[in-house]
Amino acid sequence: MSLRPVGAAIIGFGGVAQYHHQRWLRELPEFDLRGVWDINPAKLVKAQQDGIAVYRSEAELLADPAVELVVIAVPNDDHLPVSLRAMQAGKHVLCEKPVTLNSAELETALAAARQAGVIFTVDQNRRWDGDFVTVRKAIEEGCLGDVYQIESRVYGSRGIPGDWRQKKARGGGMVLDWGIHLFDQAMLLAQTRRLTSVFAAFEYAWGGECEDGFLARFTYEGGLTCLAEVRTNNYIPMPRWYVSGSAGTLLLRDWDDDAAVVRIKCEDADALPVAAASGVTKTMAPRSAGTIEQLCLPHRTPDVGDLFRHLYKAIRGLGPVDITGDQLRTTMRMTEAVFRSAQENRVITDV
Ligand SMILES: NC(=O)c1ccc[n+]([C@@H]2O[C@H](COP(=O)([O-])OP(=O)(O)OC[C@H]3O[C@@H](n4cnc5c(N)ncnc54)[C@H](O)[C@@H]3O)[C@@H](O)[C@H]2O)c1
Repeated sequence: MSLRPVGAAIIGFGGVAQYHHQRWLRELPEFDLRGVWDINPAKLVKAQQDGIAVYRSEAELLADPAVELVVIAVPNDDHLPVSLRAMQAGKHVLCEKPVTLNSAELETALAAARQAGVIFTVDQNRRWDGDFVTVRKAIEEGCLGDVYQIESRVYGSRGIPGDWRQKKARGGGMVLDWGIHLFDQAMLLAQTRRLTSVFAAFEYAWGGECEDGFLARFTYEGGLTCLAEVRTNNYIPMPRWYVSGSAGTLLLRDWDDDAAVVRIKCEDADALPVAAASGVTKTMAPRSAGTIEQLCLPHRTPDVGDLFRHLYKAIRGLGPVDITGDQLRTTMRMTEAVFRSAQENRVITDV
């Protein structure tokens, strides 16, 4: 089948555009990267050095009839105004995460997409992370029995990077930065379960105006709990994933690791007490070898290029949009509940 590439342009040529978008928009035959626009002239020079054409203004980019798709990679508080201008110019939009700063803004963006008859979707690229895909498969195939707790953690030790990410008014802080990825993943793992409550606590280890870490707990109907934790002042990381089910436990330590699963095969005889520091315990005595089985689930290597390939198909009317408006509504509601819970120090039940 001969491809009719989608003409694409990028607004905001910073970190994510340089390391992520430009690669896919140039490598994939499905796209034709027409050029970039950035308010910082140094970024335009960088683009030209990379062999990419540049526009002289956002207006010039949006007026280019060869551009069908605009990828928006500007700071978080500019996602809505830039997306609106692009959609009003008749362009499809792949916006960076977080889609917007709140649900009201999201509805404005979705209404603009409907009115213009264009696609508005978001770069939730971490749906294609190997660790996430490995864990998701294990859970969905029932490897652990009924899963009742999913712990998802990302630990760093360098605080919040850059400038605008440290400013509340610009949509800074770790909830809108890393949180949104973990909430999107939690939503997918919870499948169709109804979210019944949210509790969150923020950390300000670096003393800035935005939270540089947080712990969020999402509870779903039927008892599933998803913990999402992000911290930026931790020199010893915790495992990326720890999942508890009725029949076993899963541990996945780091992005590119295999997952280790320990499953119960049969009930154990009464445990013998084991020494535990200054006491003894039967409760915490380990399972005897014959009653458990240990599995290694090999790390999966999904291709994040599929996000762009699927977007191409959606634009050409050959397939669905992967990251839908309803999913964005859910993660935005989760995000808002996290902020409310941390601010009011209470469990939010009207999510
Ligand atoms: N999906 C991911 O994995 C991922 C990773 C990193 C960043 N992001 C998101 O991408 C966005 C950009 O992050 P970044 O790390 O690239 O930031 P960055 O600061 O490195 O780059 C932002 C760029 O936008 C430019 N800019 C600012 N306002 C503009 C405007 N109105 N018009 C044109 N250019 C403008 C800046 O000059 C800068 O070059 C953020 O929303 C961030 O949350 C997503």
